[in-house]
Amino acid sequence: MRGPLVIAIDGPAASGKGTLARKLAEYYGLKHLDTGLTYRAVAALLMAEGGLEPNGERAVAAAGRLDLSAMDRDLLSAHDIGEAASKIAVIPELRQALVERQRAFASQPPGAVLDGRDIGTVVCPRALTKLYVTASPEVRARRRTDELLGRGKPTDFAAVLADLKRRDARDMERDDSPLRPADDAHLIDTSAMTIEAAFRAAVAIVDAAISAKDRASPS
Ligand code: C5P
Repeated sequence: MRGPLVIAIDGPAASGKGTLARKLAEYYGLKHLDTGLTYRAVAALLMAEGGLEPNGERAVAAAGRLDLSAMDRDLLSAHDIGEAASKIAVIPELRQALVERQRAFASQPPGAVLDGRDIGTVVCPRALTKLYVTASPEVRARRRTDELLGRGKPTDFAAVLADLKRRDARDMERDDSPLRPADDAHLIDTSAMTIEAAFRAAVAIVDAAISAKDRASPS
């Protein structure tokens, strides 16, 4: 019998990986987990409980209490929560605790699309397909600025760009599970692509992987 179908998507902030992950999950009838939300939810819990300054123990306890099905994307998308999330994401014990939750999610039939920073490298190294979605910092900052302006929030492009670059550096340079493409990841650069074009490119890659797997072990 076939195991759950897992699609791993990694990439930096505002690369388009979240939108792509949601669309792929809908298209293939899979569940979806935005693993960034798990780090954000822990950060929000710690902040609500009297400040970040987390030690591993408090963070691990918060990770154990998380209800993955009740993470409020709107609430957790706040800028200060994203900053706090990337600061606590360097704690190895916290990463270990969240990775266990994320793996348990991925192992449920029929499978799942997970997006984050270390899905193809650490969380689901045996995923059927791994995508690394990226775009230039300027394009990502423009998208993020337009999105915030669209929500009526006064936003400065230069500040958003500086912020994204700082976050990229923190995520790529940490010792534990840094952001990087898995050796067998397919790269999708969305700098000059619509989300529809990125989606079609991703479907072609996933379909090819499904066909190759079916040929290798016909049911
Ligand atoms: O993707 P998002 O911006 O919501 O993630 C917030 C932060 O959580 C990231 O900047 C990163 O530091 C951390 N993160 C991580 N590993 C993941 C997902 C997110 O370290 N798989």
